[in-house]
Amino acid sequence: MKTIIEPFRIKSVEPLRHTTQEERERYLEEAGYNLFLIKAGNILIDLLTDSGTSAMSTEQWAAVMRGDESYAGSQSFFRLKRVADELMGFRHMIPTHQGRAAERILFTVMCKPGQVVPSNTHFDTARANIEFTGARAVDLPIPEAADTQARVDFKGNMDVGALEALIAAEGAANIPLVMMTVTNNSGGGQPVSLGNIQAVREVCARHGIPFYLDACRFAENAWFIREREPGYAAWSPKRIAQKMFSLADGCTFSAKKDAFANIGGLLSTNDDRIAQQETNLLILTEGFPTYGGLAGRDLDAIAVGLEEVLDPDYLRYRIISTGYLGRHIADRGVPIVEPPGGHAIYIDAARMLPHIPPHQFPGQALAVELYRHAGIRSVEIGSVMFGAAARHELLRLAIPRRVYTQSHIDYVVEAILEVNAAKDRIRGMEIVDAPPSLRHFSARFRPL
Ligand code: F0G
Repeated sequence: MKTIIEPFRIKSVEPLRHTTQEERERYLEEAGYNLFLIKAGNILIDLLTDSGTSAMSTEQWAAVMRGDESYAGSQSFFRLKRVADELMGFRHMIPTHQGRAAERILFTVMCKPGQVVPSNTHFDTARANIEFTGARAVDLPIPEAADTQARVDFKGNMDVGALEALIAAEGAANIPLVMMTVTNNSGGGQPVSLGNIQAVREVCARHGIPFYLDACRFAENAWFIREREPGYAAWSPKRIAQKMFSLADGCTFSAKKDAFANIGGLLSTNDDRIAQQETNLLILTEGFPTYGGLAGRDLDAIAVGLEEVLDPDYLRYRIISTGYLGRHIADRGVPIVEPPGGHAIYIDAARMLPHIPPHQFPGQALAVELYRHAGIRSVEIGSVMFGAAARHELLRLAIPRRVYTQSHIDYVVEAILEVNAAKDRIRGMEIVDAPPSLRHFSARFRPL
């Protein structure tokens, strides 16, 4: 059979609310044309993020009922620890309330002002947390990543030569750690090869620099390795993931992505001294080390999700269904970041709307138009999010896990093709009001 079906059936449903175009125009005006400020009840299809938006399985809901809410030494913690230890294999693991809490603790412990933290591409919260410590976040993607149209198997890779050059220029002592984001979210949801992880690890080891994974989408990355990297076709996704983790000295992890949980994160390390400092900070703001800002039931949901996500049937469907959206719009003339990524499709808004210059935010203008036209929420990843550091003007359509069916995606395809057919009408935006950092969450705009 050629047809790929959702490898689940639906037991509990949540109604969607249709709105009229007039209503949506009013909501946009009230929200200052920032889709983060639109009420979720006024959205038909929500592709803002794949984070915390997954549908949990029956097994996860059953695990929620088993949650042990003891303050210290909860059984839920030990169930999660067993699963995380087997998968990731780090000496220490502490739960956090989400990925950025793990980032804040890690970078607070490891970074000093003036130091430099390289990555293939930092996610915005990682960058902000590094810079909050006074250190500098540096992105070292491979040169091919600059061309959105280049079809490269592992376009999320780090430029190993550039890493060597950075270490030579800054001095190893000034680089407290190297991060690798898998998959490379801000770089288009593109995977990183095991070969690249290995090469970066070797450079780090040679210079005595700790090497950490930002492992949010480790399972999607493992599937791409299985499909594309010679030598791994017969490996299970779990074995590939174990190999990825074995090459790192620690990781940050947002359980809101590849653990199908609605909240949660993990921070892991092999370094006993760092782990002690991290635990002290955890207690200060997150909670006791066996719950780290989460309820026992959340820990149990994550434990089950970490195992479910490595099911080959799920991962095959996940990657193929994301590609389905990408191919159906790209093959009809909408420029996307090629090839399609794991959790999202990124439209190259600068290429689609050449009449809107970067300082008039083509990605934001497209996000607003897609909501106005069809009630679909997406997110700009470009000059609004990254300011002058933006390398591209992208619109991300992130696909929540196990939430939308193919007919929902067909609706999204139709809407994007209609918007594309009338794209010359779309006008740029200007910022009316914005905070100093992470401005995309709360900035207000005006159409030009
Ligand atoms: N790292 C990456 C690569 C991420 O994509 C995210 C979150 C985080 C870290 C932070 O995790 O949200 O649990 O604090 N990404 C979401 C997104 C928000 O929409 O891409 P968190």
